[in-house]
Amino acid sequence: MKRIGMLLLGSALALSSGCGGDDQLDCRADGADCTLSEAAAQAGVLIGAAFNEKDDPEYLPALIKDFNSVTHEGAMKWGATQPEYGVFNFDKADAMMEFAGANGMTVRGHTLIWEQASLDATPEYVTAITDPEALRTLMADHIRTVVGHYRGRVDAWDVVNEPFETAGSQVYENIFYQLLGPGYIAEAFELAHEADPDATLFLNEALVSNAGAKFDALLALTADLLDQGVPLHGVGLQGHFITGGPNHDELRTNIQKLAALGVVVELTEVDIVLRGTGDEATRLERQRQDYFDLASACVAVDACKRITFWGFTDRHTWIDSFFGPGFAPLPLDENYERKPAYFGVRDGLLSGP
Ligand code: G3I
Repeated sequence: MKRIGMLLLGSALALSSGCGGDDQLDCRADGADCTLSEAAAQAGVLIGAAFNEKDDPEYLPALIKDFNSVTHEGAMKWGATQPEYGVFNFDKADAMMEFAGANGMTVRGHTLIWEQASLDATPEYVTAITDPEALRTLMADHIRTVVGHYRGRVDAWDVVNEPFETAGSQVYENIFYQLLGPGYIAEAFELAHEADPDATLFLNEALVSNAGAKFDALLALTADLLDQGVPLHGVGLQGHFITGGPNHDELRTNIQKLAALGVVVELTEVDIVLRGTGDEATRLERQRQDYFDLASACVAVDACKRITFWGFTDRHTWIDSFFGPGFAPLPLDENYERKPAYFGVRDGLLSGP
């Protein structure tokens, strides 16, 4: 059984035996005021957040309270784990692993192969390579070393992140594609599976939660890889909603289409900005509905196993540094108070059968 399956079984057994919080805890009961992780356990899904080092005493207690899974925002990317050729650095990732282990949290590894957005994803010594065999050897060594370092402890890996153009449905011709061809994706998955046969291996993509050509291309790529016998176990649908919001029906349908191929699905990197017009209360209500629509789409399909937010408090979000302040995209506000969005997530988690 893949590690995610064992973890979900554990959380379900804990809940059923009353070990998952209060005995016989029912988050749907009148007066129940469950945390997100208690509601997620009742819904049979894991719930996580991007993790980073913060000089903020409120950060870790809030993370522990509502989440049971973490993904480091940067420390497991190539630029962090092998910043120079042959020089590996696992310090920050190891510290997160220790925190996660001490708090009973699962860990998603993000990400082994990603060359599209920034130097800290893939260093220049990699993108400067011109010889295919040199790159093939380097990619193999990187994946074997990183996945091997965490063998048995990281339950899921984003093996290849964002293989498509950000705004489009064409495969992004990164350095791996250019030198190794489209088969680089299959090669990366085979290497990761060899390094940790029990890890659940994911293809992770952005802007594919709603219907559209990019999702269709992701679905076709997933089917093709599975037809080749590639050890692809899951697909991550990133949930960065910056210009619009989730469409419940389209997202549920996308999850169902992927599930029909036999993979598990996770909603990864979720952050949904305040959007629409009107006063702040109106926009917070719109955001609550958006989060309900997203979470309820996941729990509507058995194959959807985890929701991971990209951060969890508006005090610390990548969106501030990339797009500016004021987008307030997460379930907890700047003071770690529960926003309407928090209750949208919780109600969405509890909307299932
Ligand atoms: O740590 C350095 C710091 O020392 C330096 O002073 C500062 C200014 O140059 O840069 C810091 O590194 C930044 C790093 O985040 C840590 O904050 C990098 O420049 C910056 O590029 C990096 O951005 C991250 C980005 O991925 C690229 O790796 C974001 O935090 C992170 O949220 C974002 O997450 C990605 C997912 O991995 C993949 N899906 C899209 C998502 C959003 O872009």
